[in-house]
Amino acid sequence: MKREDAVLALLRENPGRHVSGEVLCARMKVSRAAVWKGVEELRRLGYVIQALPSRGYRLQSVPDKLFSDEIRHGLKTKFAGKTIYSYDVLDSTNDAAFRLGEQGAPEGTCVFAEFQKKGRGRLGRQWSSPKGKNLLFSIILRPLLAPADVSKITLVAAVSLARAIRQTIGQNVGIKWPNDIVHGGAKLAGILTEMSAELDRVNFVVVGLGVNINASSDELPPGSVSMKKLARRALSRVDFARTLLTEIERDILRFKEGKFAQIAQEWEENTVTSGRRVVASVLGRKIHGQAEGIDEDGALWIRKDNGLKVRITSGDVEHLREAAAKGGRRAA
Ligand code: BTN
Repeated sequence: MKREDAVLALLRENPGRHVSGEVLCARMKVSRAAVWKGVEELRRLGYVIQALPSRGYRLQSVPDKLFSDEIRHGLKTKFAGKTIYSYDVLDSTNDAAFRLGEQGAPEGTCVFAEFQKKGRGRLGRQWSSPKGKNLLFSIILRPLLAPADVSKITLVAAVSLARAIRQTIGQNVGIKWPNDIVHGGAKLAGILTEMSAELDRVNFVVVGLGVNINASSDELPPGSVSMKKLARRALSRVDFARTLLTEIERDILRFKEGKFAQIAQEWEENTVTSGRRVVASVLGRKIHGQAEGIDEDGALWIRKDNGLKVRITSGDVEHLREAAAKGGRRAA
């Protein structure tokens, strides 16, 4: 263990209390100078540590940086986030997670970055996000699935993400098919699911999530909104990361228990697409009609203007006008 990690662990064992230099030296089996260097390194990373000659050191505050130790601290999941890699800058967390997946990284391994140079969105789009303000991360999953069923994982993640946001800001957000999280028509978060697969079997799935947390409107692409704007206060990204990992694990476990129908029902309760007039773009084809909802496989059904129904499993939808009246809870 690095000396700063050892100092941090000992200070955390004593929340709100001072720990003497003597105790730190004895527990770490190092000199006072080494303890001091550990404290200085933590301060450089943004930890606020009070040092009183008579009493020792006390941890006053921790930085809102996506350090693996910060995220793991207090995380009560079984597999999601058990191993976390955190970077200042990466090309894309999905690419890094994919490489880890190929090397056999276990299910739940996560990659976080403060900034991505080549952040990717769905359908070849870019995902841009200012440094140190939002959440950019990818998680490796190893479900026993056929490749055709992987789109269900995306819907599962959308349900977890919408719930985590709702718990954090206390406001409803909507899921736009398949997995955009929106509020009042503006995009709050997106999910990019990629997989490594054989013809009949998935090796692993990488679910990449980009969530606008503390960025201001002028730092985000047009048509975006952040959780900070909705909550009217800055939020702890580390706390949110823990909430999100907890919700993802909960839903992935439900999914593995064969309860996708339950999750699809929750997706329907939170979608802003079902009941809406839409134009879907699928492999260059445009389909105009009324979105009717998803089926047990997570595919979206659209009733075309000529009355015929089509089922879409990929592509994108654009909402054409305000929601038609529909029973059930209507999300944001
Ligand atoms: C979309 O809405 O089109 C999906 C956006 C997904 C963005 C996230 S940010 C973390 C992960 N790494 C990437 O390069 N993309 C995903």
